[in-house]
Amino acid sequence: MAVPVCGVGHPAVQSRGHQSNDAPPVARTAAWSRSGGRSASNLGAMQDLAGKVAVVTGGASGIGLAMARRFGQEGMRLVLADIERSPLEAAAAQLADAGHEVLAVPTDVSSPDSVAALAAVTFEQFGTAHLVCNNAGVGPPGGILETPLAEWRWIMDVNFWGVLHGVRTFVPRFVDQNEGHVVNTASVAGLLTQPGMAAYNVSKHGVVVLSESLLYEMEMLEARVGVSVVCPAWTRTAIHESDRNRPPGAEGAAGPVTERVRAAADRLYERSHRSPGEVAERVLEAVLEDRFYVITHPGVMPFVERRHEDIRLQRNPSVEQGL
Ligand SMILES: NC(=O)c1ccc[n+]([C@@H]2O[C@H](COP(=O)([O-])OP(=O)(O)OC[C@H]3O[C@@H](n4cnc5c(N)ncnc54)[C@H](O)[C@@H]3O)[C@@H](O)[C@H]2O)c1
Repeated sequence: MAVPVCGVGHPAVQSRGHQSNDAPPVARTAAWSRSGGRSASNLGAMQDLAGKVAVVTGGASGIGLAMARRFGQEGMRLVLADIERSPLEAAAAQLADAGHEVLAVPTDVSSPDSVAALAAVTFEQFGTAHLVCNNAGVGPPGGILETPLAEWRWIMDVNFWGVLHGVRTFVPRFVDQNEGHVVNTASVAGLLTQPGMAAYNVSKHGVVVLSESLLYEMEMLEARVGVSVVCPAWTRTAIHESDRNRPPGAEGAAGPVTERVRAAADRLYERSHRSPGEVAERVLEAVLEDRFYVITHPGVMPFVERRHEDIRLQRNPSVEQGL
């Protein structure tokens, strides 16, 4: 979730469709893709998705469920992983009813053992996996000083460590089989910094940097393993109800900064028009094009550019006034 970012960009940013400066057409892929060491002939390892296996964490809801559905429509076999058992079962039943082959695996991405078990059952069932979407996440607001340490740990455990566990578990297998693609869900909060969302911002910047590092390392290994990082702004999902997954007994953030951001989040959520399905469509394109950055809300780009300009000019960061 990137509360204020969506606000500053909204509603002009909510244009539908694929704008020319946001994602290159397939024909330009080679020029946009890997920075070095790869020829165009190495690209597109994942272009034929039918029959391949996609693992999606946070797959019971929102963007994860939409990605699973979209990959299912491409003929992929699906593994849905989520901490919420009954929504997970409902989502899997929905996908099965639509004719997709789907395996539901209750998983807590913050636990390396749980993610290892997810990989084990995936390989046991399907013998392989080709695409992993490290997507599970939580997005409660919280000022730095108003967020209890346990809350910081929870957000980092799910949003950052959950992605790292997915990478460390699945990527060695992809490298061994010399085929695979990793999709990490960050946020526009991984490209910008907004007040009152410190733990979320830190976790999502971590996911962007981890993903960039992974891309470089796959190039160094000359592995046919693609990497994409998804950076959505506001999208209509259940992310604003993340409290439902807070560990029992843990307290959330409280205080004036948190309350101000929470109020803005509620307002902005109501104004958000982007659907999870639109995000999923952009992700599918990125996998097929072997494209790294997936920017689903083009209107955020001026703010990203301004941040880079602040750094270039050694100017103090501009605080968004969307709150
Ligand atoms: N919705 C937005 O506006 C938005 C914007 C930017 C980024 N994102 C990111 O998109 C991703 C998906 O979120 P969403 O918006 O679809 O929200 P969502 O709440 O609808 O889905 C998140 C899913 O993750 C699951 N989850 C939470 N903790 C988990 C854990 N420990 N282990 C396994 N599963 C867990 C939840 O049960 C839920 O099914 C998140 O990483 C989120 O940060 C969302």
